[in-house]
Amino acid sequence: MKNNYAYGSLASFLPLEEHLFPLDQNKVFGRSAVLEIEIGFGTGEYLARIASDAPDKNFLGFEQCAKRILKTLRKVHDTKLNNVRLMRMDAVWGFRYLFPQRSLSRVHCLFPCPWPKKRHAKHRLFTPGVLRLINSRLVDGAVLYIVTDHQPYAAWIAENVAGTGFYMSAAVIPATFGTKFERKWSDAGQSEFYELTLTKTEHQDVAQGGCQMRTYFFDDVNFSKVRLENMWGPTTVKFGELLYDPLIKRAIVDAVVSEDDRSQHIWIMVVHTSKGWCVCPAGGTVVLPTEGAQKAIELVADAVKGSLV
Ligand SMILES: C[S@@+](CC[C@H](N)C(=O)[O-])C[C@H]1O[C@@H](n2cnc3c(N)ncnc32)[C@H](O)[C@@H]1O
Repeated sequence: MKNNYAYGSLASFLPLEEHLFPLDQNKVFGRSAVLEIEIGFGTGEYLARIASDAPDKNFLGFEQCAKRILKTLRKVHDTKLNNVRLMRMDAVWGFRYLFPQRSLSRVHCLFPCPWPKKRHAKHRLFTPGVLRLINSRLVDGAVLYIVTDHQPYAAWIAENVAGTGFYMSAAVIPATFGTKFERKWSDAGQSEFYELTLTKTEHQDVAQGGCQMRTYFFDDVNFSKVRLENMWGPTTVKFGELLYDPLIKRAIVDAVVSEDDRSQHIWIMVVHTSKGWCVCPAGGTVVLPTEGAQKAIELVADAVKGSLV
Protein backbone atom coordinates (compact mmCIF):
# COMPACT_ATOMS: atom_id res chain seq x y z
CA MET A 1 0.00 0.00 0.00
CA LYS A 2 1.19 3.50 -0.82
CA ASN A 3 2.55 5.31 2.20
CA ASN A 4 0.55 8.49 2.58
CA TYR A 5 1.53 9.74 6.00
CA ALA A 6 3.92 12.49 4.96
CA TYR A 7 1.51 15.40 4.66
CA GLY A 8 2.92 18.36 6.53
CA SER A 9 0.12 19.67 8.64
CA LEU A 10 -3.58 19.43 9.25
CA ALA A 11 -3.62 22.89 10.79
CA SER A 12 -5.63 24.41 7.95
CA PHE A 13 -8.22 21.63 7.88
CA LEU A 14 -11.48 22.44 9.63
CA PRO A 15 -13.31 19.33 10.78
CA LEU A 16 -17.02 19.54 10.38
CA GLU A 17 -18.11 20.02 13.94
CA GLU A 18 -21.15 21.57 15.41
CA HIS A 19 -19.26 24.36 17.12
CA LEU A 20 -18.54 25.76 13.65
CA PHE A 21 -22.15 26.81 13.19
CA PRO A 22 -22.03 29.71 12.64
CA LEU A 23 -18.37 30.15 11.71
CA ASP A 24 -16.41 32.27 14.17
CA GLN A 25 -13.47 33.77 12.26
CA ASN A 26 -11.55 34.60 15.44
CA LYS A 27 -11.72 30.99 16.56
CA VAL A 28 -11.03 29.50 13.16
CA PHE A 29 -8.39 31.89 11.75
CA GLY A 30 -7.22 33.51 14.98
CA ARG A 31 -8.34 36.86 13.60
CA SER A 32 -11.27 38.56 11.93
CA ALA A 33 -10.61 39.81 8.37
CA VAL A 34 -12.19 40.17 4.96
CA LEU A 35 -13.35 36.66 4.04
CA GLU A 36 -13.30 35.09 0.56
CA ILE A 37 -14.54 31.65 -0.44
CA GLU A 38 -13.50 29.19 -3.12
CA ILE A 39 -16.00 26.52 -4.10
CA GLY A 40 -14.44 23.24 -5.31
CA PHE A 41 -10.77 24.22 -4.95
CA GLY A 42 -9.63 20.86 -6.36
CA THR A 43 -5.89 20.50 -5.83
CA GLY A 44 -5.59 24.05 -4.52
CA GLU A 45 -3.35 25.84 -7.05
CA TYR A 46 -5.65 28.85 -7.35
CA LEU A 47 -6.59 29.01 -3.65
CA ALA A 48 -2.93 28.95 -2.59
CA ARG A 49 -2.12 31.69 -5.08
CA ILE A 50 -4.93 34.12 -4.20
CA ALA A 51 -4.28 33.57 -0.49
CA SER A 52 -0.57 34.22 -0.85
CA ASP A 53 -1.30 37.38 -2.92
CA ALA A 54 -3.59 38.75 -0.17
CA PRO A 55 -2.14 37.88 3.25
CA ASP A 56 -4.43 40.43 4.92
CA LYS A 57 -7.54 38.45 3.89
CA ASN A 58 -8.92 35.13 5.14
CA PHE A 59 -9.79 32.37 2.64
CA LEU A 60 -12.06 29.39 3.20
CA GLY A 61 -12.30 26.64 0.61
CA PHE A 62 -15.01 24.00 0.23
CA GLU A 63 -14.22 20.73 -1.51
CA GLN A 64 -15.83 17.31 -1.42
CA CYS A 65 -13.06 15.12 -2.78
CA ALA A 66 -10.81 13.84 0.03
CA LYS A 67 -7.79 13.15 -2.18
CA ARG A 68 -7.80 16.71 -3.53
CA ILE A 69 -8.13 18.14 -0.03
CA LEU A 70 -5.00 16.23 1.03
CA LYS A 71 -3.06 17.61 -1.93
CA THR A 72 -4.22 21.12 -1.10
CA LEU A 73 -3.29 20.67 2.57
CA ARG A 74 0.22 19.89 1.45
CA LYS A 75 0.30 22.99 -0.77
CA VAL A 76 -1.00 25.22 2.00
CA HIS A 77 1.61 23.82 4.36
CA ASP A 78 4.50 24.04 1.86
CA THR A 79 3.65 27.65 1.02
CA LYS A 80 3.37 28.47 4.75
CA LEU A 81 -0.04 30.05 4.35
CA ASN A 82 -1.81 30.79 7.60
CA ASN A 83 -4.80 32.61 6.09
CA VAL A 84 -6.39 29.54 4.46
CA ARG A 85 -8.80 27.00 5.92
CA LEU A 86 -10.22 24.00 4.10
CA MET A 87 -13.46 22.18 4.69
CA ARG A 88 -14.76 18.92 3.32
CA MET A 89 -18.29 20.09 2.84
CA ASP A 90 -20.89 20.76 0.18
CA ALA A 91 -20.47 24.50 -0.35
CA VAL A 92 -24.24 25.00 -0.39
CA TRP A 93 -24.51 23.73 3.18
CA GLY A 94 -21.61 26.04 4.01
CA PHE A 95 -23.31 29.13 2.58
CA ARG A 96 -26.56 28.26 4.33
CA TYR A 97 -25.24 27.54 7.79
CA LEU A 98 -21.81 29.08 8.31
CA PHE A 99 -22.21 32.68 7.26
CA PRO A 100 -24.55 35.53 8.13
CA GLN A 101 -25.90 37.74 5.39
CA ARG A 102 -23.50 40.33 3.91
CA SER A 103 -20.39 38.69 5.39
CA LEU A 104 -18.34 37.51 2.39
CA SER A 105 -16.21 39.70 0.14
CA ARG A 106 -15.87 37.44 -2.86
CA VAL A 107 -16.77 33.92 -3.96
CA HIS A 108 -14.64 32.13 -6.56
CA CYS A 109 -15.46 28.98 -8.50
CA LEU A 110 -13.19 27.67 -11.24
CA PHE A 111 -14.46 24.92 -13.50
CA PRO A 112 -17.55 23.77 -11.58
CA CYS A 113 -18.73 20.29 -12.60
CA PRO A 114 -20.81 21.00 -15.74
CA TRP A 115 -22.99 17.86 -15.64
CA PRO A 116 -23.37 17.94 -19.44
CA LYS A 117 -25.94 15.12 -19.72
CA LYS A 118 -29.56 16.30 -19.60
CA ARG A 119 -30.56 13.78 -16.95
CA HIS A 120 -27.72 14.98 -14.72
CA ALA A 121 -28.46 18.69 -15.09
CA LYS A 122 -30.27 18.64 -11.73
CA HIS A 123 -26.84 18.31 -10.06
CA ARG A 124 -25.60 21.65 -11.42
CA LEU A 125 -24.58 24.02 -8.69
CA PHE A 126 -25.64 27.49 -9.78
CA THR A 127 -29.42 27.21 -9.72
CA PRO A 128 -31.41 30.43 -9.14
CA GLY A 129 -31.86 29.39 -5.49
CA VAL A 130 -28.12 28.92 -4.93
CA LEU A 131 -27.35 32.21 -6.73
CA ARG A 132 -29.77 34.00 -4.38
CA LEU A 133 -28.18 32.27 -1.39
CA ILE A 134 -24.67 33.34 -2.43
CA ASN A 135 -25.93 36.86 -3.17
CA SER A 136 -27.32 37.13 0.35
CA ARG A 137 -23.96 36.13 1.90
CA LEU A 138 -21.92 38.62 -0.17
CA VAL A 139 -21.43 42.21 0.89
CA ASP A 140 -23.06 44.77 -1.37
CA GLY A 141 -21.21 45.24 -4.67
CA ALA A 142 -19.14 42.05 -4.21
CA VAL A 143 -18.52 39.48 -6.92
CA LEU A 144 -19.24 35.83 -7.54
CA TYR A 145 -16.54 34.87 -10.04
CA ILE A 146 -17.06 31.74 -12.15
CA VAL A 147 -14.98 30.30 -14.97
CA THR A 148 -16.18 27.26 -16.87
CA ASP A 149 -14.81 25.23 -19.75
CA HIS A 150 -18.33 24.33 -20.85
CA GLN A 151 -20.19 26.88 -22.97
CA PRO A 152 -23.68 25.34 -22.43
CA TYR A 153 -23.10 25.53 -18.66
CA ALA A 154 -22.17 29.22 -18.98
CA ALA A 155 -25.36 29.80 -21.00
CA TRP A 156 -27.42 27.91 -18.38
CA ILE A 157 -26.01 30.06 -15.56
CA ALA A 158 -26.74 33.21 -17.62
CA GLU A 159 -30.39 32.09 -17.88
CA ASN A 160 -30.57 31.63 -14.11
CA VAL A 161 -29.27 35.06 -13.17
CA ALA A 162 -32.53 37.02 -13.61
CA GLY A 163 -34.09 37.83 -10.24
CA THR A 164 -31.06 36.77 -8.19
CA GLY A 165 -29.76 40.29 -7.48
CA PHE A 166 -26.68 39.98 -9.70
CA TYR A 167 -25.55 41.83 -12.79
CA MET A 168 -23.58 39.42 -14.98
CA SER A 169 -20.84 40.21 -17.46
CA ALA A 170 -19.36 37.47 -19.61
CA ALA A 171 -16.10 37.12 -21.50
CA VAL A 172 -14.23 34.45 -23.39
CA ILE A 173 -10.73 34.10 -21.98
CA PRO A 174 -7.66 31.95 -22.63
CA ALA A 175 -6.27 29.47 -20.11
CA THR A 176 -5.24 31.70 -17.21
CA PHE A 177 -5.19 29.89 -13.87
CA GLY A 178 -3.01 26.79 -14.22
CA THR A 179 -5.34 24.61 -12.19
CA LYS A 180 -5.46 20.86 -12.65
CA PHE A 181 -8.72 20.95 -14.58
CA GLU A 182 -7.74 23.92 -16.72
CA ARG A 183 -4.55 22.05 -17.65
CA LYS A 184 -6.64 19.01 -18.47
CA TRP A 185 -8.81 20.92 -20.94
CA SER A 186 -5.86 22.89 -22.36
CA ASP A 187 -3.89 19.69 -22.93
CA ALA A 188 -6.94 18.31 -24.76
CA GLY A 189 -6.79 21.31 -27.13
CA GLN A 190 -9.32 23.73 -25.63
CA SER A 191 -8.18 27.34 -25.89
CA GLU A 192 -11.32 29.28 -24.94
CA PHE A 193 -12.92 29.40 -21.50
CA TYR A 194 -16.03 31.22 -20.28
CA GLU A 195 -15.63 33.80 -17.56
CA LEU A 196 -18.74 35.00 -15.71
CA THR A 197 -18.49 37.92 -13.32
CA LEU A 198 -21.64 38.29 -11.25
CA THR A 199 -21.70 41.57 -9.34
CA LYS A 200 -24.17 41.94 -6.49
CA THR A 201 -26.47 44.85 -7.31
CA GLU A 202 -29.50 44.06 -5.16
CA HIS A 203 -29.50 42.26 -1.84
CA GLN A 204 -31.49 39.01 -1.58
CA ASP A 205 -32.78 38.23 1.87
CA VAL A 206 -31.96 34.59 2.67
CA ALA A 207 -31.81 34.02 6.41
CA GLN A 208 -28.94 32.06 7.93
CA GLY A 209 -30.07 28.49 8.41
CA GLY A 210 -29.63 26.41 11.50
CA CYS A 211 -31.54 25.72 14.62
CA GLN A 212 -30.74 24.80 18.18
CA MET A 213 -30.81 21.01 18.29
CA ARG A 214 -33.11 19.85 21.09
CA THR A 215 -32.79 16.63 23.01
CA TYR A 216 -35.68 14.85 24.73
CA PHE A 217 -35.89 12.92 28.01
CA PHE A 218 -38.28 10.16 29.04
CA ASP A 219 -38.60 8.16 32.25
CA ASP A 220 -39.10 4.94 30.32
CA VAL A 221 -39.19 3.41 26.84
CA ASN A 222 -40.65 0.17 25.51
CA PHE A 223 -38.39 -0.67 22.58
CA SER A 224 -40.62 -3.50 21.38
CA LYS A 225 -43.32 -0.91 20.73
CA VAL A 226 -41.25 1.89 19.19
CA ARG A 227 -42.70 2.58 15.71
CA LEU A 228 -40.77 5.09 13.65
CA GLU A 229 -42.86 7.00 11.12
CA ASN A 230 -41.13 8.40 8.03
CA MET A 231 -42.05 11.92 7.05
CA TRP A 232 -42.83 13.08 3.49
CA GLY A 233 -43.19 16.57 2.06
CA PRO A 234 -40.75 19.39 1.22
CA THR A 235 -38.62 17.93 4.04
CA THR A 236 -38.40 14.16 4.12
CA VAL A 237 -37.12 11.94 6.89
CA LYS A 238 -36.58 8.27 6.18
CA PHE A 239 -35.57 5.97 9.01
CA GLY A 240 -33.56 2.77 8.85
CA GLU A 241 -33.90 0.00 11.39
CA LEU A 242 -33.59 0.85 15.07
CA LEU A 243 -30.99 -1.28 16.79
CA TYR A 244 -31.23 -1.66 20.57
CA ASP A 245 -28.47 -3.06 22.79
CA PRO A 246 -30.02 -3.91 26.19
CA LEU A 247 -26.59 -4.55 27.74
CA ILE A 248 -25.50 -0.93 27.38
CA LYS A 249 -29.04 0.45 27.29
CA ARG A 250 -28.55 2.28 24.04
CA ALA A 251 -30.35 2.22 20.68
CA ILE A 252 -29.31 3.84 17.41
CA VAL A 253 -31.15 4.52 14.20
CA ASP A 254 -30.03 5.98 10.87
CA ALA A 255 -32.17 8.70 9.32
CA VAL A 256 -31.82 10.20 5.84
CA VAL A 257 -33.01 13.78 6.01
CA SER A 258 -33.66 15.63 2.74
CA GLU A 259 -34.48 19.32 2.62
CA ASP A 260 -33.81 22.18 0.18
CA ASP A 261 -32.36 19.82 -2.48
CA ARG A 262 -29.72 18.49 -0.11
CA SER A 263 -29.66 15.43 2.14
CA GLN A 264 -27.67 14.13 5.09
CA HIS A 265 -27.48 10.82 6.93
CA ILE A 266 -27.70 11.22 10.66
CA TRP A 267 -27.49 8.73 13.50
CA ILE A 268 -29.86 9.29 16.36
CA MET A 269 -29.59 7.48 19.68
CA VAL A 270 -31.88 6.67 22.56
CA VAL A 271 -29.59 6.23 25.53
CA HIS A 272 -30.09 5.66 29.24
CA THR A 273 -28.61 8.49 31.32
CA SER A 274 -28.79 9.59 34.93
CA LYS A 275 -31.65 11.90 33.85
CA GLY A 276 -33.61 9.12 32.17
CA TRP A 277 -33.80 8.00 28.53
CA CYS A 278 -32.35 10.64 26.24
CA VAL A 279 -33.13 11.02 22.51
CA CYS A 280 -30.29 12.94 20.82
CA PRO A 281 -27.76 12.86 17.95
CA ALA A 282 -25.49 9.82 18.36
CA GLY A 283 -22.01 10.61 19.64
CA GLY A 284 -19.18 10.44 17.13
CA THR A 285 -21.26 11.68 14.22
CA VAL A 286 -21.71 15.16 12.87
CA VAL A 287 -25.20 16.45 12.35
CA LEU A 288 -25.72 19.67 10.47
CA PRO A 289 -28.12 21.56 12.70
CA THR A 290 -30.94 21.85 10.19
CA GLU A 291 -34.68 22.05 10.77
CA GLY A 292 -34.98 18.63 9.10
CA ALA A 293 -32.41 17.04 11.42
CA GLN A 294 -34.23 18.50 14.41
CA LYS A 295 -37.50 17.09 13.01
CA ALA A 296 -35.92 13.62 12.73
CA ILE A 297 -34.92 13.71 16.42
CA GLU A 298 -38.41 14.90 17.32
CA LEU A 299 -39.94 11.99 15.36
CA VAL A 300 -37.82 9.51 17.31
CA ALA A 301 -38.90 11.21 20.54
CA ASP A 302 -42.56 10.92 19.43
CA ALA A 303 -42.04 7.22 18.75
CA VAL A 304 -40.49 6.70 22.20
CA LYS A 305 -43.43 8.54 23.76
CA GLY A 306 -45.86 6.47 21.69
CA SER A 307 -44.25 3.23 22.93
CA LEU A 308 -45.45 4.00 26.45
CA VAL A 309 -49.18 4.22 25.77
C1 LIG B 1 -14.03 20.09 -12.23
S1 LIG B 1 -13.35 20.18 -10.63
C2 LIG B 1 -12.44 21.70 -10.64
C3 LIG B 1 -11.43 21.76 -9.54
C4 LIG B 1 -10.52 23.00 -9.51
N1 LIG B 1 -11.28 24.21 -9.32
C5 LIG B 1 -9.70 23.09 -10.76
O1 LIG B 1 -9.88 24.06 -11.52
O2 LIG B 1 -8.85 22.19 -10.97
C6 LIG B 1 -14.76 20.61 -9.65
C7 LIG B 1 -14.49 20.39 -8.15
O3 LIG B 1 -15.58 20.90 -7.42
C8 LIG B 1 -15.87 20.02 -6.35
N2 LIG B 1 -17.29 20.25 -6.02
C9 LIG B 1 -18.35 19.97 -6.80
N3 LIG B 1 -19.50 20.35 -6.20
C10 LIG B 1 -19.13 20.90 -5.01
C11 LIG B 1 -19.86 21.45 -3.93
N4 LIG B 1 -21.21 21.52 -3.97
N5 LIG B 1 -19.18 21.89 -2.86
C12 LIG B 1 -17.82 21.79 -2.81
N6 LIG B 1 -17.08 21.27 -3.82
C13 LIG B 1 -17.72 20.83 -4.89
C14 LIG B 1 -15.56 18.64 -6.88
O4 LIG B 1 -15.25 17.72 -5.86
C15 LIG B 1 -14.35 18.93 -7.76
O5 LIG B 1 -13.12 18.75 -7.09
